[in-house]
Amino acid sequence: MADKTYRVIQWATGTVGSAALKYFIENPVIELVGVYVTNPEKVGKDAGDLVGLPKTGVLATDDVDAILAMDADCVLFSPSMMTPPIDMVCRLLATGKNVVSPAGPFLPNKWIPAEAARVEAACAEGNSSFHGCGIHPGFSGDILPITLLRLMNRVDCVEVSEIIDKVRNPMIYTEIMGFGTNPEELLANPRRSPETYKFFYSSMQLIADSLGVEIEKVTVKFEVSKALKDIKHLYGEVKEGTVGGQHYEWTAWYGGAPIIVYHFYWQLGEDLDPLWEQGEARYRVRIHGDPPLECNLLGGLDKDGRHPFLGLPWTGLVGCTVVPQVCDAAPGVVTHIDLGVVQPKGLVRR
Ligand SMILES: NC(=O)c1ccc[n+]([C@@H]2O[C@H](COP(=O)([O-])OP(=O)(O)OC[C@H]3O[C@@H](n4cnc5c(N)ncnc54)[C@H](OP(=O)(O)O)[C@@H]3O)[C@@H](O)[C@H]2O)c1
Repeated sequence: MADKTYRVIQWATGTVGSAALKYFIENPVIELVGVYVTNPEKVGKDAGDLVGLPKTGVLATDDVDAILAMDADCVLFSPSMMTPPIDMVCRLLATGKNVVSPAGPFLPNKWIPAEAARVEAACAEGNSSFHGCGIHPGFSGDILPITLLRLMNRVDCVEVSEIIDKVRNPMIYTEIMGFGTNPEELLANPRRSPETYKFFYSSMQLIADSLGVEIEKVTVKFEVSKALKDIKHLYGEVKEGTVGGQHYEWTAWYGGAPIIVYHFYWQLGEDLDPLWEQGEARYRVRIHGDPPLECNLLGGLDKDGRHPFLGLPWTGLVGCTVVPQVCDAAPGVVTHIDLGVVQPKGLVRR
């Protein structure tokens, strides 16, 4: 086992995929055998050149059939969020490649039975396994709180918050998400559909299963905060009085009370009314009960004295570190519970 290596293909090299590609090139447990790209400027480039590393001899391709025909143990599948992943995930699984995907689908999930059935069928056809990975869904809202539950005597409610200051951590989707728009209009037409919680439902379900409770319903709340002055960010400017902050809240209920709550606080700086959260971008788990617990997950201190938001690279890495165990798992959908304690290999390189 110690010498076992895994042949891996990296599918797409955006922010998440680049973190994964770097991992696969550098980790001795992994042999990079293919890289799929869509960007014509990347086609034919050496994988090492795409992430600032020495040449690997593996050239990026946009040829889907060539990727499907490759002999590989696993594909880390991280295409743009604009592409529904299910068709290609199933094609890859059917060729016998295990798939780890931050693009979803996140399973098991009662809201997407048809997709779940297709993934299971493709796994059966290819004798392969599938695991949905990510920071949230995939880590902060499921395996992290489940692990922390080990420190509790009694649990009343598990509360998970994603807190991101989008001035300090600029994201191209800031405008698409409705920042800078009229608050009343955005409240009436949130850019993140009220149905979005269904894509995170597998995470809520894993916590509920771990606690041995049934989720009775999920309620959704959305509120916005106003910019108190004009706020500049990397991709534009938000005018005073327009939307400068958004808070999505999804509450899973059990026994007439909240049992799991996910908050997403996205804020442009701190000149906001109201200002829900202060401080660095982070994931925060609060477990209410006995004894109460709080855990904050944030990137290590940068040279500028800040904790950066690492949600995107973490989304790649949490997938990379699980590749060997997904490859070695029995065919089918592999959840955190199936994986047990993941033991990442090849990280220490003295
Ligand atoms: N679960 C989680 O916690 C979590 C968190 C963050 C992101 N995600 C998911 O992870 C995936 C990757 O995120 P990202 O931030 O890396 O995205 P990104 O930076 O936008 O990169 C996506 C890459 O997909 C390729 N691409 C571009 N247009 C495409 C198209 N029309 N169809 C297929 N692929 C296309 C490009 O690859 P090339 O440049 O190589 O051509 C692009 O760089 C997304 O699906 C996102 O939803 C999940």
